[in-house]
Formats: sequence, C-alpha cells, structure tokens
Amino acid sequence: MAVLQELGIQSVNSGASTGSKWWSKTQNGGHLESINPANGEKIAAVHSTNAQDYEHVISSATAAFEQWRRVPAPKRGEIIREIADLLRKNKDYLGTLVSLETGKIKAEGDGEVQEMIDMADFAVGQSRMLYGKTIPSERPKHRMMEQWHPLGPVGIITAFNFPVAVWAWNAFLAAVCGNTVVWKPSSKTPLCAIAVQHICNQVMESKGFQGVFNLFITHNAALSEQLVRDRRLPLISFTGSSGVGRKIAVWVAERLGKSLLELSGNNAVIVDESADLKKAIPSIVFGAVGTAGQRCTSTRRVLVHHSRYHDLLRGLLSAYSQIKMGDPLEANTLLGPLIDAAARDHFVSTLREVVAAGGEILYGGNLIDRPGFYVEPTIIKAHHDWAVVHRETFAPILYLITYQDFDEAIAWHNEVSQGLSSALFTESVMRAEQFLSAVGSDCGIANINVGTSGAEIGGAFGGEKDTGGGREAGSDSWKAYMRRQTNTINGGVELPLAQGIKFTV
Ligand code: UN1
Repeated sequence: MAVLQELGIQSVNSGASTGSKWWSKTQNGGHLESINPANGEKIAAVHSTNAQDYEHVISSATAAFEQWRRVPAPKRGEIIREIADLLRKNKDYLGTLVSLETGKIKAEGDGEVQEMIDMADFAVGQSRMLYGKTIPSERPKHRMMEQWHPLGPVGIITAFNFPVAVWAWNAFLAAVCGNTVVWKPSSKTPLCAIAVQHICNQVMESKGFQGVFNLFITHNAALSEQLVRDRRLPLISFTGSSGVGRKIAVWVAERLGKSLLELSGNNAVIVDESADLKKAIPSIVFGAVGTAGQRCTSTRRVLVHHSRYHDLLRGLLSAYSQIKMGDPLEANTLLGPLIDAAARDHFVSTLREVVAAGGEILYGGNLIDRPGFYVEPTIIKAHHDWAVVHRETFAPILYLITYQDFDEAIAWHNEVSQGLSSALFTESVMRAEQFLSAVGSDCGIANINVGTSGAEIGGAFGGEKDTGGGREAGSDSWKAYMRRQTNTINGGVELPLAQGIKFTV
C-alpha cells in the first residue's frame, strides 16, 4: 500500500522499536491485525511484542534517559522542531493513514497531524520556559528557588480515536522536559504508531539519539499491566475509558507513581432562550457527528430551553439529512464508520436500552447495510436522568433534553459522573458568566458559543470527576512530566536555622 511505503513502513512484521534500526524481530507474540473500519478488511498484520521485547524497550528508554537528560532543554526543543518539519512534510500521508486505520474522515485525519505539529511547535517554545520560582528566604544571605528536573522514562498509553495527536501532546512535552518515552498505542491502530515512530526516530537518529521515543505494541493484557506497574516508569499517562483508568490509577498509586489521566466524557451543550441557533446547530452537529461520535469531547447531550426545542430540532434534522456518509477518504464525506463491530453492537444495545427507557428516536437509529461498521447519526428525545444518558457511548448518538429554567439546566448538566467538556450557547452575558463561574459548569473545559469538541492545543486539556483530573497539551501541563526540587542556598558565613531555632552544641 503506497501510503505505508511513503511513511517508511516497508515490512510490517515487528512491533517493538527503539529506533528504525532496532525493530524487534519477534515472531512469537501473536498477531495484531489492523482493520480498515470502512470495509472491515485487513490493512496489514503486525507482530505483537513479547516479554523479552518489553525488557529491551524499557532498558533502552532507561539508558537513553541518561544521555537525553544531559542535553540542554532548548537543544531538546530544537530537535522537536525538526520533527515538526518532518511531520509537515508527511502531513498528507500520515493524515491518510489515520483516516484509513481509524475510519475518521480525511479532514479530521489531517487535523490530527496538524494537532501534532501545533503541539511540537508549542513544545519548542516551552523548552525555553521550564521556569521555576525564586522565593525570599527568612534567613540572611540565603536564597530559595525551585527547579524542575525530568522524571525518567514515561509510559504513554493512547486510545484508537486519536492515535497520533494524543501521543504528541504527551511525548513532545515529555521529551523537551528531558524524559524518554515508552508508547503503548491502542492495538486497533498499530500502523499509525509505527509511522509516527519512524518519522520521529528518523530525526532522532540523525542527531545521534537512540531510545528517546520507544514503541511497544501489544494486545497482551498482562504485558500492558506490567508496563503500568513498572517502577522504572515514574509517570503513566493514560487516555481511555474511566473503567480502565480507574484500574490504572490504582496500579500506579500502589507503587506511588504518578498518573496523568484523560478519561471518559459525557459532554453537554446548553441552548438557552437567547441562543443564536446559527452558531449552536453547526457546533452541535460537529460535536455529535464528527469522528462518528468517538471523541472524548463529543457532544452527547443537548439541554435545550423548552421554548427553543422545535426550532433547534428542525435545524438539526435539516443538517443531519444533509450529512454525507461514506468512504472517509472521499472529499465530501462527513461521517465515516465506527471503529469495529463491537462498537457497532454497542450502538445497537444502547439504542435498545434508551428506547426501553422511553426514548423517542427523532432521527437515525439504524445500521447501514454496507461493508464496514457504519451506523446512522442518531437523535433521541430523552430524559436527563436515565442511566443510559449518564453513560458515555462512543457512537453518534445525541440525547435531546428540554429544560424549564437555567439553574435546572446547570444541575442536570453537572449530574453525570464525567466532567470533561461543556458548552453554553447564549447571547446573555449574565448567563455566560454564570456558566463559567464556580457554580456553573463543573467540567475541565467550559465554552461559550463554541462546541464541546475540537479544542485547540495551548489550553490545558482534561477534566474532573470520572474524567480523571489530568491536564495535557497546554498551559502549565509540562509540570506533570517533571519533578520539582526546592533549593535553599546559604551564601553567608553564619548558619542560621529557620523558625529562629537555636541548636548549638
Ligand atoms: C480525545 O478525544 O481523546 O478537543 C481528544 C478535541 C480534540 C482532542 C480530542 N482536540 O476534540
């Protein structure tokens, strides 16, 4: 397949790597098949790594850390800048591969690569801004300051839905901070990971570094658990469901490691009496239908003031009827398939449950009779407190819920266990301020007249409650990849103790 060759994937028969010369020759770890969700056919098969590869990858990341942490941070940034250049050159190919392997449309595949590039640029700047504070000391001729040092090799576990961007959020910041990286991608998207590994390590090798970025592809649950429990990895960054995240948090906490969690969302849009539907409707459609509803930021619930319900519904139905579903690589397609048959089954069982609860299907609700894992984008009139509405279903299902007053809308908005992204469409400054206040949205991301999905990098990304509390991809999220050291320096001849304590012998 041309796109694989262009990305340097000549032979897809090994999964572990610490650099393109170092691909594992393992053949006994079992196979992982990469399936094209648009037709259900195999794109390629990858050998899964085994326990020996695991040791090789971790020791390589550990050895590389010794060298990498000695490189000045701005010099590390310069190397990330070159990676960004190579990503720019390969954007079209890599975007196509993301689309092929995940089923997201080409524009979104390209968008993901752009998010990597943006993240690399951000990390380059950050490499000159790993600031610590200076603190006035109570003791004469003393100085206090804090410094930030790298942690070590960090484990990054990513999900299928953003197979390259979320790795970049973590890996580029981790790398400029002086850490090395061990990546366990989703077993559904091994080719994207191999391609990214090739691109990054091409630059790393040309600079004389090996083992800064490492890849560990497996579908073996025991090996994945070993990675999470491994004390040699001071930080585990995990993106995925709250269910798995909860286990990971416990395993990492048991060894007193750090975890950085970006878990499930159940994001709502509130549409109030004053909302401009010309802004609200396209935002809801992109949020609910984009990536076939498989983003952690996807819009799953719309809380609409009863007075706007009919206008909003009319607009949504008109927009939904124009959504072109089809081959994700075709230019006009807006909706591709779900990732696999299990996701399609989950769509079916969720609809069954919501209909049994009394939900009324206002649009869609069916599987599409064509190869691949296609489902109709679906709108359901639902009640705010149904159990099924409180769950995250990775599918293009939108629950429409009417409310009477704004305080009730906020309460319903916040009553779910997840707390990632949220949006209010309003033309009222007072409502906007209330939504963003301490008694408004309880999410990590709260937007006004901007939908729940499609955040740009630069802001801290992540959420509260069952979303796990992690923050990535912007603001001061670099601190998660470093250890803080407080220094007190005595520049005088006396040795005064703090708190005025006298202790002389
Ligand atoms: C995810 O789904 O895990 O804000 C990440 C967004 C994207 C990232 C989504 N920039 O929708």
